[in-house]
Amino acid sequence: MIEVRDLIIENNDGIILDIQKLNIDKQDFVCIMGKSGAGKSTLLNVIFGLIEPNKGYINVGCCDMGYSTQDASFVPYLSVLEHILVSIKEERRKIYAQKILSRFGIENKLSEYYSNLSGGQKRICSLANAIARGEKLLLLDEPFNDLDNLKIKELVSILNEINSKGTTIVMTTHHIIDNLNITNNYNIVNGKLV
Ligand SMILES: Nc1ncnc2c1ncn2[C@@H]1O[C@H](COP(=O)(O)OP(=O)(O)O)[C@@H](O)[C@H]1O
Ligand SMILES: [Mg+2]
Repeated sequence: MIEVRDLIIENNDGIILDIQKLNIDKQDFVCIMGKSGAGKSTLLNVIFGLIEPNKGYINVGCCDMGYSTQDASFVPYLSVLEHILVSIKEERRKIYAQKILSRFGIENKLSEYYSNLSGGQKRICSLANAIARGEKLLLLDEPFNDLDNLKIKELVSILNEINSKGTTIVMTTHHIIDNLNITNNYNIVNGKLV
């Protein structure tokens, strides 16, 4: 589903990502770990198409992607429901987004402005949107940030479930999380996969 070859990403300071080879297959559940500044978010941004490679190439064999970014940012003056309505086109996926919110116990926040949500609620809103959009490929940058232990448990169960039904997941985290059905673990050190 995702093929990376001889990929180089540079900024003004030099090379920040240098990946010779990475293959991610359909239904893989990939976990990318590494220290802050290692290049984890940059890799997800490249997969999502927000950053163009300076050298090499990346081929993503699907366009049905959902992305929950590290800062879980959205438009402050739209409500949770309005985000779902704007960002998701298919009716059944909208219903699915609302189901996910209710599994996290925040279905009563649907009419709340995004700026009035707590950090954890913003994270859940971002995850619900991404999960509903990314039926084929789900990109999650630090999805466990801002969540308490119960919500982490719920997220683990949701991710295992959707992966078992065929969604490919590429996730970064610096948390050690139990019970995730990860198929491939990678570490990034100074922009290189090890
Ligand atoms: N928008 C940006 N412009 C230029 N450099 C960036 C930008 N975002 C991140 N970087 C740099 O890219 C490197 C990798 O950052 P990042 O991918 O965010 O790491 P991680 O997610 O592993 O903490 C860091 O050195 C960081 O300073
Ligand atoms: Mg990051």
